Amino acid sequence: MIKIGIFNQKGGVGKTTTALNLAGAFYAQQHAVTMLDLDPQGHLTGIFKRHALDPNKHLYQFYQADIPLVQLLQTLQPNMHLLAANAELMKVDSYFGRGPNILKKLSQGLASLAVETPDTALIVDCCPYIGVISLNAIFACDLMIVPVASDYFSVGSAIKVERALRALEPVLKRRVERRYLLTRADKRKKMTSEVECELRALFGDEVLETKISENIALAESPRLGKNVFEYDKSSPGARDYAQLLIELKANVPMQSS
Ligand SMILES: Nc1ncnc2c1ncn2[C@@H]1O[C@H](COP(=O)(O)OP(=O)(O)O)[C@@H](O)[C@H]1O
Ligand SMILES: [Mg+2]
Repeated sequence: MIKIGIFNQKGGVGKTTTALNLAGAFYAQQHAVTMLDLDPQGHLTGIFKRHALDPNKHLYQFYQADIPLVQLLQTLQPNMHLLAANAELMKVDSYFGRGPNILKKLSQGLASLAVETPDTALIVDCCPYIGVISLNAIFACDLMIVPVASDYFSVGSAIKVERALRALEPVLKRRVERRYLLTRADKRKKMTSEVECELRALFGDEVLETKISENIALAESPRLGKNVFEYDKSSPGARDYAQLLIELKANVPMQSS
């Protein structure tokens, strides 16, 4: 199972859009996918509301009642699953934040899930703050993608993410594999190229070559409960996310476990 987390402490940078459409890119290439919504706001889950989701199957049950993840999977289509979030996820921090094993909880849960669904790409949509559930994702995933929107505030937020990841590495005893992804790019705007230059100066090879353009199909597709490949596979948004997957497969070590 390949596990990719999408994280930035800043909201509105394209985390949920990237989770939905990177999963869509894997699916369009005939991979089985599971999307894991780790944001108590449940934006990713909300996209699939027309799929008549079972309200009793959500991630808090995994944290609170130790229900195995495989029992919480909701089928959206053959080989496409969702692990849904609801607002109760917010309670994980206060109820379990100090427990000794909580940081490894998701990674252990996913190890069991991987036995049941080994050939699956798991994409985690993280919440916009560092707490127990984000740390769970960072501990569990093989790769973190940090979307950075093409505006100046976003560069500052990327620096904060980098600091947080560096601080975690001694605890994890490994380097956190991460890649910065420029989103909402508009090549007509000077700011897009300036943000890109700054990111490359800061993070070098860890900035992906692929950029996600500002694209109407990416903004509209979630409203119809679709990823961009289902909505319009010839759109620039579909092209960008397909290219992202090509780059990840070619250049990024993603250890499958
Ligand atoms: N590349 C893009 N082109 C157009 N709209 C985008 C793009 N990326 C994100 N958006 C829109 O921006 C808003 C915030 O994106 P979202 O993925 O929800 O960010 P986050 O999960 O980081 O808060 C949403 O309305 C989304 O549709
Ligand atoms: Mg989001």
